[in-house]
Amino acid sequence: MVDAGGLVEQGKDIMTVKHVNNRVRYANKTIKKNNRSSCKKIRREVVFPRVPDVLQELYVSCREIFKGPGTVPPASDVNKLCSILDKMKPEDVGLSKNLHFFKATGAVKGTPRVTYTTIYQCDQFSLCIFFLPETAVIPLHNHPEMTVFSKLLLGTMHIKSYDWVDPVDMNDAMPSSQLRMAKLKANSTYTAPCDTSVLYPTTGGNIHQFTAITPCAVLDVIGPPYSKEDGRDCSYYKEFPYVDGETTRVRDGYGWLEEIEAPEVAEMDRIEYLGPQIIENTTC
Ligand SMILES: [Fe+2]
Repeated sequence: MVDAGGLVEQGKDIMTVKHVNNRVRYANKTIKKNNRSSCKKIRREVVFPRVPDVLQELYVSCREIFKGPGTVPPASDVNKLCSILDKMKPEDVGLSKNLHFFKATGAVKGTPRVTYTTIYQCDQFSLCIFFLPETAVIPLHNHPEMTVFSKLLLGTMHIKSYDWVDPVDMNDAMPSSQLRMAKLKANSTYTAPCDTSVLYPTTGGNIHQFTAITPCAVLDVIGPPYSKEDGRDCSYYKEFPYVDGETTRVRDGYGWLEEIEAPEVAEMDRIEYLGPQIIENTTC
């Protein structure tokens, strides 16, 4: 393990995010000098930093707003969560732009793996951070029955997203039972700090792909969370251009998506979250 050299000051606590070979993990430690020792020993102990108000506010609001599977928060609640997330800074979850992980080197080989950590999860929602090294990809995937708030905390990321098109509303038959027509919702590059984006079960770009232009950290608020048992598993897709049958021209703004097995690039490494801990006031 190589010390990335980045430090996030939290009072007397020192928090680092370390990485090796484009992987990242939290490390938390308090360093105190022992004045009684002539050797000036350095004593280290794990201390969780105090929860920032905005992170606790996010948790409390999620508790109020997410009502479980089959529900979508009303616009007023969506706006409330967005306004909280828009205020959030990397330091609120123990990160800093000065961390070595977030310094682009331009020397990436292959497609690096994505790392994620879970700040909190219950049956109604989850709070996760995804760490994408430079050029890393979270391939095209869906969020069945979910509302997802994505807040890019650090870095520059390209987001491409689609929503399904009801074939009945189009004057075109599906060319194959494996393909479904989708309408392009987003195809843009975003740089932190930027506004929170929201996707819904059938709108807002429910099927999306993240590509890291620089090393990135994105905070996702997902309600309800993925659950294989409850039929909310993650599916992956390959996209094909929509070609107009008469003109044979590619029709911008639409595509055909084919469900595929989870690609190798979709495999992620999970790390323990050791940033500021939310305070649970009741069971979820
Ligand atoms: Fe996603």
